[in-house]
Amino acid sequence: MERRTIGAAALEVGAVGLGCMPMSWAYSTSRQRGAESLRAVHAALDRGVSLLDTADMYGPFTNELLIGRVLRERRADAFVSTKCGLLVGEQHIVANGRPGYVKRACDASLRRLQTDVIDLYQLHRADPEVPVEETWGAMAELVTAGKVRSLGLCAVGVRAGRRAGGRQYDATIRQLERVQQVFPVSAVQAELSVWSPEALEALLPWCRARGVGFLAAMPLGNGFLTGTLRPGEGFEPDDPRARHPRFTAEMMAANQPIVAGLRRVAHRHGEGVTAAQVALAWVLAQDPHVVPVPGAKQERWVAENAGAARLRLTPQDLAEVAALPPALGSWD
Ligand SMILES: NC(=O)c1ccc[n+]([C@@H]2O[C@H](COP(=O)([O-])OP(=O)(O)OC[C@H]3O[C@@H](n4cnc5c(N)ncnc54)[C@H](OP(=O)(O)O)[C@@H]3O)[C@@H](O)[C@H]2O)c1
Repeated sequence: MERRTIGAAALEVGAVGLGCMPMSWAYSTSRQRGAESLRAVHAALDRGVSLLDTADMYGPFTNELLIGRVLRERRADAFVSTKCGLLVGEQHIVANGRPGYVKRACDASLRRLQTDVIDLYQLHRADPEVPVEETWGAMAELVTAGKVRSLGLCAVGVRAGRRAGGRQYDATIRQLERVQQVFPVSAVQAELSVWSPEALEALLPWCRARGVGFLAAMPLGNGFLTGTLRPGEGFEPDDPRARHPRFTAEMMAANQPIVAGLRRVAHRHGEGVTAAQVALAWVLAQDPHVVPVPGAKQERWVAENAGAARLRLTPQDLAEVAALPPALGSWD
């Protein structure tokens, strides 16, 4: 698989990563099976997918434990990125960016992951009660201590921007500029997909100008862009898509032209090429330092998604995708 570099430290990873969240968190927990997930992670590593994206809160903790079982055997094949700063409470998810907590969280992640170093340690969310420089300073000390190789910041679920009259992700960029004063950011993780392209406006250009890598979260539109989800089929109550405005039967039907457009492009590239692969190839085409982290817990999806690294979209393909209608149904 093509390799890509992340951040000033030029850490190398396979061009397509693996989002491990669906194995233990979000989506329907009743459909999560450990053995199948383990096979999926091995299948990814076998195909040159090296970046495994997890977080302490996925599960909570069980996702890191699962990845740890793989790392114990195949540490050299993997680039492990995990996250700290969010805690799953009884009622709510809460942020904790206190320096002492972050250091303890890192030690616990290292234990669960069965490794002595985390390749990319990401702040999942800044804690509004703690100046972000303090949290980032503690994370930088983890690099100095050799427990972590590089630092990243997540901006998923941040929807500040146009409504306030600014550019999308302006608040994130301000936060990034603050933490850059303390220690270099190696990667930003934010949503980027054919139906959520907002990061292209200012956030990705900010990263490009500074040599900061970009991990594209939810590159398949939570599965919608693959064309395998049928409007009206419904989601189990514990699946967040059951409450997502873009996943009502009405909005899924209204957004079908997006899937149809991806299928048209796929068809031109020959038999076996899928809408999911076109969606990922579109993300890959945005910048040579973008690494999509499609979430999957099934081996067949992992194999298909890895194949997207070989797909080269033509200028005509890219123009056709750019001309697709914007997605209907939003959080705003
Ligand atoms: N930093 C953050 O706050 C944050 C937030 C959200 C996500 N993320 C990261 O981004 C990753 C990806 O996000 P995501 O998993 O929510 O969304 P996604 O990658 O857009 O979509 C994942 C969904 O698509 C399905 N799928 C994957 N490949 C497929 C294929 N080729 N054909 C058909 N269906 C396919 C998966 O099914 P199965 O599950 O059945 O395999 C899963 O339901 C996460 O795993 C996580 O690492 C980070």
